[in-house]
Amino acid sequence: MHAVILAGGKGTRLRPLTLDLPKPVVPLLNRPLLEYQLAMLAAAGFGRATLSTSYQPDRIREVMGDRSAGLDLGYAVEPEPLGTGGAVRFAASPADGTVVVFNGDILSDLDLSAVLEFHRRKGAGVTIVLSEVEDPTNYGLVVTGADGRVRQFLEKPGWDETDGLRTINAGTYVIEPEYLSLIKEGVHLSIEREFFPLLVERGDPFYAYVHRGYWIDIGTVGKYLKAHADLLRLRPLTLPGHREVLPGIHAAEDAVVAAGVEARGPVVVGRGARVGEGVVFSRFCVLGPGCTIGDGAHLDACVLWDGVRVGEGARLQGVVAGQESRLGSHTRISGLFALGTGGHLPDYSHHAEMGEILEGE
Ligand code: GDD
Ligand code: MG
Repeated sequence: MHAVILAGGKGTRLRPLTLDLPKPVVPLLNRPLLEYQLAMLAAAGFGRATLSTSYQPDRIREVMGDRSAGLDLGYAVEPEPLGTGGAVRFAASPADGTVVVFNGDILSDLDLSAVLEFHRRKGAGVTIVLSEVEDPTNYGLVVTGADGRVRQFLEKPGWDETDGLRTINAGTYVIEPEYLSLIKEGVHLSIEREFFPLLVERGDPFYAYVHRGYWIDIGTVGKYLKAHADLLRLRPLTLPGHREVLPGIHAAEDAVVAAGVEARGPVVVGRGARVGEGVVFSRFCVLGPGCTIGDGAHLDACVLWDGVRVGEGARLQGVVAGQESRLGSHTRISGLFALGTGGHLPDYSHHAEMGEILEGE
C-alpha cells in the first residue's frame, strides 16, 4: 500500500507566513504540520510515505529530511503543479497498489485503520473520509445515500447549493489502482472537481466514511491559531525533551524562564528560548526555538516561530510571528496579526480599531 501526502499547495491564505515556509511544514507546537499526518500513517502500520510537492519542494525536504515520525520519506516533485488529482497520479506511479491520500494541511484524530477496514468491508473502489462543519462552502460538499455510497460531490458549493447539508470532504482518500489509472499521467487534474464527479457519474463503488472526531483544515491564520488552542486543550501535553518548569509552562531543557513568570494557560517554550522577568502569558502561547521575550511583556494566544524577539513591556494578542521577526519594546497588538519572516515592528508600534474617530470627516 502506498501513502501520498499532498503538500504542493501555495498556502496563499496563510501569507505572509507561507512566503518562505510552505504550509505543510509550518510549525504546530514547534513540529512541522506534516509530522502529525505521518504519525497517523505510522499508527496504521505504514513504514513509508511519499510527499507530493511542487511549491518550494527544497524547503519541504530541508525541514522533513528522509525520515519523520518513524516513516521513510520519498519525494515526488512535480515539474509544474498538476492539481490534486494529477499530483496523486504522479506520486503514486506506477499505479499498482492501493493508495492512501492525505491533504497536507489537516489536523485530525482520524483512525486510519478503521477507514481501511471500512474500505475493505464495503468492497469500495474509492473511499473518502467526511467530516461535519458549520459552513460547507469552503470545502467539498459530499452527498451520500443510506448505503454510504457517494451520490454527489460539489467542490466549494454556493450556500444555495448546500441544501442544509454539512458533510464535507475531510481530505483523506483510499483509492484502488484501477480507479487511479483513470487519471492520465502527467496531466493536470483536480481530484475534487473532475475525478470524484466522474466516479459518481460512472456509478463506481465510491463510499464515504464519516469521521466523528476532531478535524480542522489549517488554511488561515485564525485556523492556525485555533489548531494550537485545540491541541493544547484536547491532548495531554507530552513534548519530548520538555518539562513543566513553572505551572503551565512546558520548556525545552535548555530554555531559560525567569522565576515568577505567570501562565494562565498552557505555554510551550522551545529550545534555547529565554523568557524575561515579570512576563505574563494568558490563554495559550507557543514560543519557537531561540525566541526571547523581554521583561514585563504580556502575551495572549500567540505563536512565535524560531528566533522571534519581543521587546520589554510589549502587549501582544493573537500574533503569529514568522522566523527571526522582531516586535519592539512596548509594542501593542491585538486581534489577529501575522508578521512575515524577518519582519520588524519598531518600539512603541501599536494597533487599534479605528472606531468612530473619523466620523463626520
Ligand atoms: N502536489 C500538489 N500539487 N499538491 C497540491 C496541488 C498541486 O498542484 N494543489 C493543491 N495541493 C495540495 C495542498 O497542499 C493541500 O495539502 C491539498 O492539496 C488541498 O489543497 P488546498 O488548497 O488546501 O484545498 P482546499 O483546502 O481549498 O480544499 C481541499 O481540502 C478541503 C478539506 O480541507 C479540497 O480537497 C476540499 O474538497 C476539502 O473539503
Ligand atoms: Mg486546505
